[in-house]
Amino acid sequence: MKSFWRSAAWKPAVFLLSLVPLAHLVWRFENNDLGPNPLEELTHVTGDWAIWFLLLSLAITPLRRLLGQPDLIRFRRLLGLFAAFYAVLHTGVWAYFDKQLDPTELIADLTLRRFIIAGMISLVILLILAATSTNASIRFLGKNWRRLHRLVYLAAALAVLHYYWLVKADTRLPLSYAGILLLLLLARTIPLRSNANLTK
Ligand code: HEM
Repeated sequence: MKSFWRSAAWKPAVFLLSLVPLAHLVWRFENNDLGPNPLEELTHVTGDWAIWFLLLSLAITPLRRLLGQPDLIRFRRLLGLFAAFYAVLHTGVWAYFDKQLDPTELIADLTLRRFIIAGMISLVILLILAATSTNASIRFLGKNWRRLHRLVYLAAALAVLHYYWLVKADTRLPLSYAGILLLLLLARTIPLRSNANLTK
């Protein structure tokens, strides 16, 4: 029987849903509804969505195993690309609005502030993974593609560290993300359920 998740409607639906946070942010921006500190709000919301998409994309493999739904794999690349997309927006907001694209200020932050350095390395990894997520790259890189794409865990760990280092007092949220990431890693060891084809 054709799997529920194989319907052609799912991918466009997930794509459009993934754009909702951006549409909502643009709407709030246009309506001057970003609160007393719009720059901070833009940075925070885009950063939050980047990390959530990253964790969602990492949840796909354990979910396939837990639910015995191998076709969920169809959404992993899309969710990962949206993580990179929101991370680029997030960094763009910081560079354009906060630093006014001033090279001296940008370089100072990118070399001296440890939370920015962690964020930058995470972003670079996400961009490399996005650039090599095409079918042509998968064919070209062969077995090395999988090895390269395991770096997504490093990108996620660095994003969590980035958040942990920037918060001044209440570390509960970044620590929760760290816990979720650890659980997702552990969940990869869950044995395959039934006869589902989970070879990817
Ligand atoms: C060059 C790369 C990056 C730069 C310059 C950067 C910069 C920033 C800045 C300035 C803040 C706000 C700090 C504050 O409020 O004091 C922030 C927060 C944050 N960033 Fe980044 N970031 C980068 C990459 C990333 C990446 C790749 C992710 C996730 C995949 C990420 C996720 C977050 C999160 C979750 C927050 C906290 C949001 C909140 O408080 O609600 N950042 N980042």
